[in-house]
Amino acid sequence: MKKTICETNTSETNHQETSDIILAGSGIMGAMQMTRETEAKLKTCDIVYVLHYDNSLYKFVESLGVKTVDASEFYKDGQDRTEVYRRIADSIIQDAKIQQVGFLVHGHPLFIVSTSEYLIQEAKNSGLKLEILPAVSSLDTVITDLQLDLGYALQLYEANFMLNMNPKIDNKVPLLIFQVAVLGLFSVQKSYQDVDLHPLQEFLLKYYPATHVITFVLSSKHVLVSSDKLEVKVEELDKINVDFLEGRPTLYIPPIEGE
Ligand SMILES: C[S@@+](CC[C@H](N)C(=O)[O-])C[C@H]1O[C@@H](n2cnc3c(N)ncnc32)[C@H](O)[C@@H]1O
Repeated sequence: MKKTICETNTSETNHQETSDIILAGSGIMGAMQMTRETEAKLKTCDIVYVLHYDNSLYKFVESLGVKTVDASEFYKDGQDRTEVYRRIADSIIQDAKIQQVGFLVHGHPLFIVSTSEYLIQEAKNSGLKLEILPAVSSLDTVITDLQLDLGYALQLYEANFMLNMNPKIDNKVPLLIFQVAVLGLFSVQKSYQDVDLHPLQEFLLKYYPATHVITFVLSSKHVLVSSDKLEVKVEELDKINVDFLEGRPTLYIPPIEGE
């Protein structure tokens, strides 16, 4: 059943037909960074898929009184991640043909979320109306944790994409590398022990001195837990304790100053 959102102002009531699919993000800290717009729009959905490692978010959406699906149930160890993302998107599309569906993902819905990309494409192919809501991303929280305004110039890459593409890096411009924890890993796995950072280290050594200090930033995921940072030299990158990767940090490479 498709619902409508009613917006009342002093002189008239506007009825806005809601979308078939609401694609939204939770922010980085459970439900604490979710916007009031997202909360209001999810409430209009018949069913909301939640793709998030934090179970409290699933419970929060349930508390809004909508039917909730835990999209992590689509994951099976050893499976190709692309396959999982496509199956989630397909399931949402099938549901959206008969009811309003919300899809809530971690962070911003259009910041390194492959399922969102498939969903947008499939919604277009199926003639379904899809609405995307902005959200706090890890880019926002990492900038905050570093206390740096990176808005003037920034190089930003997903780790696997970067090593495949082999772009020319400008070492005078700050660089952020996302998804280091899944470097070279393309299947669903529970442990990050298999991550090999050698290829990333070799790549960085083409542009930075071995002693250049770089920082892994892990933004807080809970109000009672602080953000965490791990500083290493490029030459030490292959020796870090990979347990730190378990939290899915982002790697910040500061520019080389004064040359
Ligand atoms: C699959 S992407 C999803 C990004 C998410 N949609 C967003 O808007 O931030 C996961 C990557 O985001 C970054 N990330 C996610 N959570 C983070 C956190 N708490 N602190 C730092 N980086 C984080 C990491 O680079 C991680 O590998």
